[in-house]
Amino acid sequence: MVNLETTYLGLRLKNPLIAASSGLTNSIENILEMAENGIGAVVLKSIFEEQIQSFGSKNNTISQDNEINESKKYIQEHSAKRILYDYLELIGQAKQKTDIPVIASINCVSNQGWIDYAKKIESAGADALELNIAILPSDPEVSGNENEKIILEIIDSVVKTVSIPVAVKISPYYSGLANIIKRISQKDIQGLVLFNRFYTPDIDIEHQEIKTSFVFSSPSDIALPLRWTILCSPWLKSNISASTGVYNGKGVIKLLLAGATTVQIATLLYKKGFREISVLLNEIENWMERHGYTTIEEYRGLMNAEISSSASAFERIQFMKHYSGIE
Ligand SMILES: Cc1cc2nc3c(=O)[nH]c(=O)nc-3n(C[C@H](O)[C@H](O)[C@H](O)COP(=O)(O)O)c2cc1C
Repeated sequence: MVNLETTYLGLRLKNPLIAASSGLTNSIENILEMAENGIGAVVLKSIFEEQIQSFGSKNNTISQDNEINESKKYIQEHSAKRILYDYLELIGQAKQKTDIPVIASINCVSNQGWIDYAKKIESAGADALELNIAILPSDPEVSGNENEKIILEIIDSVVKTVSIPVAVKISPYYSGLANIIKRISQKDIQGLVLFNRFYTPDIDIEHQEIKTSFVFSSPSDIALPLRWTILCSPWLKSNISASTGVYNGKGVIKLLLAGATTVQIATLLYKKGFREISVLLNEIENWMERHGYTTIEEYRGLMNAEISSSASAFERIQFMKHYSGIE
């Protein structure tokens, strides 16, 4: 008898499949349907720090004596308030109507003007908070160190404020990726989500315009979280939740063998619907039965880089094997 239970961020999940933060996790109807199809946990759509800041911001630049601007300001504040209120409502409903862990998500680039809302998320009943730290190192005047300092400051502010477990979702765009992953994990957090996915600019060559493309991942994108889970899981204290490019049960199994605690899916749910959750779970169960595993702990991390003396040697050997056939 196969048991898919796992512990992520100190929370008991009936299986390691998590619905990643996306528009799909923004309604109670969808969350209920995902729960019915067997999802282990959900990460709600991110609320943006700007949405939180825009409510009650004292730094509003709109002129006070202009009536039109005043009404615009009122509408902006009112809709921001509504969004923030609805988000807390959604947490409450999801907790009331399902028995799966509900992880809230905040997309942030600073620790200014929104931290108190994290406390409200906790009071609304969220089981954990995922911080989607969406700093893109695109400013040539800002060094990697400066960006990393901001990340660590955000985490410090949040863990001081809430007592629910915190997971940090980062992008892979760091020069010393393993080093920043390690420094994040030394904070009082419980999980790292590898990785965040940015909307990518594309070019429409007919209209010669920039457009947004590549919103959805491709199956080959799994290579990125797979590599960094293999490399980091041997020494990382925090749980790894692997995200990007998971299209089937095979992908989930690979990431578990690499050392992930949970695996997050978004594109697959958009493309194939929520019934795909049970298809993935069946695939994992069948594979475990075929290989004689009864729990995930028996094989989690079996294929991580600990099999090699050091992570960089492991990478080098894999590279040589691939390109020169050296065994
Ligand atoms: C339409 C869409 C909306 C998303 N919105 C969010 C979001 O609000 N917050 C977040 O952290 N990630 C968001 N993501 C990223 C996903 O959570 C996930 O990390 C990413 O899509 C990679 O997983 P996948 O390959 O299974 O799609 C979104 C992804 C998609 C496709």
